[in-house]
Amino acid sequence: MKFFIDTANIDQIKEAHDLGILDGVTTNPSLMAKEGISGKESVFAHYKKICEIVDGDVSAEVISTDFDGMIREANELVKIHPRIVVKIPMIKDGVKAIKYLTGKGIKTNCTLVFSPGQAILAAKAGATYISPFLGRLDDISFDGMELIAQLRLIFDNYGFTTQILAASIRHPIHIIKCAEIGADVATCPLSSILALLNHPLTDIGLEKFLADHKASQKTEKVKV
Ligand code: E4P
Repeated sequence: MKFFIDTANIDQIKEAHDLGILDGVTTNPSLMAKEGISGKESVFAHYKKICEIVDGDVSAEVISTDFDGMIREANELVKIHPRIVVKIPMIKDGVKAIKYLTGKGIKTNCTLVFSPGQAILAAKAGATYISPFLGRLDDISFDGMELIAQLRLIFDNYGFTTQILAASIRHPIHIIKCAEIGADVATCPLSSILALLNHPLTDIGLEKFLADHKASQKTEKVKV
C-alpha cells in the first residue's frame, strides 16, 4: 500500500519524506486555506514547492464545477510540475472532465467519493485514483471501511486499473484496515502515520535493553 500525506503543510511533508516512507501528497482547498495560502500565484508556487520535496504524485484540486472551467484549470495545473495529478470532484461535469483528461494522458484523482456507484462512474471514465472519504462516512454513522471493501471487490471483478486512494483517514486503525482490505493508497495526516510507530512493549523492551547494557558496562569496569 502506498502512503500519501494529506496536508499542504511543508514541514509535515518534509518530516514524512525524511522518514523514507512517503509516496505522494494530497491537498484540497481547505488544506491550502489552513496554511494561509491564497491567490492563484501563491497556490501554484506552493504546489511547486511540494512537488520538489516528494518523489510521487501530488494531487491539486480544481475549484471550477463546470466542464470548461475544470479543463482550463487542469491544463494550468499540469504545467506546474510533471508530478501534479488533477483532483476533480465527483459531479456530472467532473466525470466528463475525467474522461477528457484521461484521453489527453493527464492523471486525475476523483474526489468526494462516498458510494460504490460514484466509484464505478469514475473508474469507467478512467480516473487514475478515486478518493473515498471514509472518515466523513464514519462521522455520519455509515461504515467507511465497508465502502473500501466494496470498491476493492468491484474493481477486482472487472480489472479496473483505477487506484483506490483511501482518504479522510482519522487514525492508525483506519490505515491498518485499509491495508487488510487492499486499498492501493492511504492518504493520512502525519499524526496517524507517526501513531503507527507506537507500541508500549517496544518502549518497555528498549528501556530494558539499554538498562541491561548500561549495567553490564559497569560490571566490566569493576572487573578491570
Ligand atoms: C484528501 O484527498 C481529502 O480531501 C481529505 O482526506 C479529506 O479529509 P477530511 O475528511 O479529514 O477533511
